[in-house]
Amino acid sequence: MIVARTAEELAAVPHHGTRVVVMTMGALHDGHLALVRRAQELGDQVVVTIFVNPLQFNEAADYERYPRTLEADCALLESLGVDAVFAPGDEVMYPAGVPVVSVSAGVIGTVLEGAARPGHFDGVVTVVAKLLNLTQPQVAVFGAKDAQQVIAVRALVRDLNFPVAIATASTVRDPDGLAQSSRNVFLSPSERESALALSRSLQEADAAAQAGRSLADVVAAGREVLSRAAGVEVDYFSALNPADASEVQGDYRGEVVIAVAAHVGATRLIDNVTTRIGPPEGAVGAEGELQ
Ligand code: PAJ
Repeated sequence: MIVARTAEELAAVPHHGTRVVVMTMGALHDGHLALVRRAQELGDQVVVTIFVNPLQFNEAADYERYPRTLEADCALLESLGVDAVFAPGDEVMYPAGVPVVSVSAGVIGTVLEGAARPGHFDGVVTVVAKLLNLTQPQVAVFGAKDAQQVIAVRALVRDLNFPVAIATASTVRDPDGLAQSSRNVFLSPSERESALALSRSLQEADAAAQAGRSLADVVAAGREVLSRAAGVEVDYFSALNPADASEVQGDYRGEVVIAVAAHVGATRLIDNVTTRIGPPEGAVGAEGELQ
């Protein structure tokens, strides 16, 4: 496995077949590894990037305490048969400090996760644009765990004409339902217990949606679980349109991403589930009658 630390070293890695990139900030867990396996199914050559991107952290303390485990990450990726890792330093990615020209995620960057973390999605789409230009893949794989990030990256690629296909991989969870995250290492055993309320709230909302309940009932079912959870400070529990991350309201019917963000102690966690409000697709007959 080649480990490239500079743009020049990366450019020297010969392409073979379809190159698929998986972008990460390291501290790899099974969620990241599922993306790597998906990438291996989709192409012939897998490049994994590892870079803790300072531009997307809106809190200096969060950036500083973010886990950095490059050696262990490379050993894991090598055991999976990854072709190359690109692990640049800040001086490679941002030689002049904050870049003069950057990308804006527009309105996607100002709602929900973006409202809670001003500048976060601008930092994400800027680094994704740079990493796409540096790695030159045909396909890039992102995790459904970060639903709003997937929406922002799809908008980046569409609006700025990046010649790359975006693929997604489903959220990997621990057996108790907690979505895997590099930040889970910060949870104490009791906080970890409290954190289970996030996935439970999504399960309840999903169950209500599958039972044919209205949007308001679906959201209320999830919020009810969170309101009973000790040690969980909810930031938002919302239903959003998977096309543009706008919050859906009223008598909306169709596919929704139910997204939750909460602080458990000092750790901010997010999770989501994709479900459907209203009758399942295809349930409407030729005359528009429900079957
Ligand atoms: P990071 O949090 O390291 O995540 C890297 C990729 O792994 C993202 O696409 C994320 O959605 C995916 N991922 C994380 N946890 C997952 C899980 N439990 N199941 C499935 N996929 C999971 O997301 C970032 O880094 C950064 O914003 C990045 C895109 C690298 C830009 O800096």
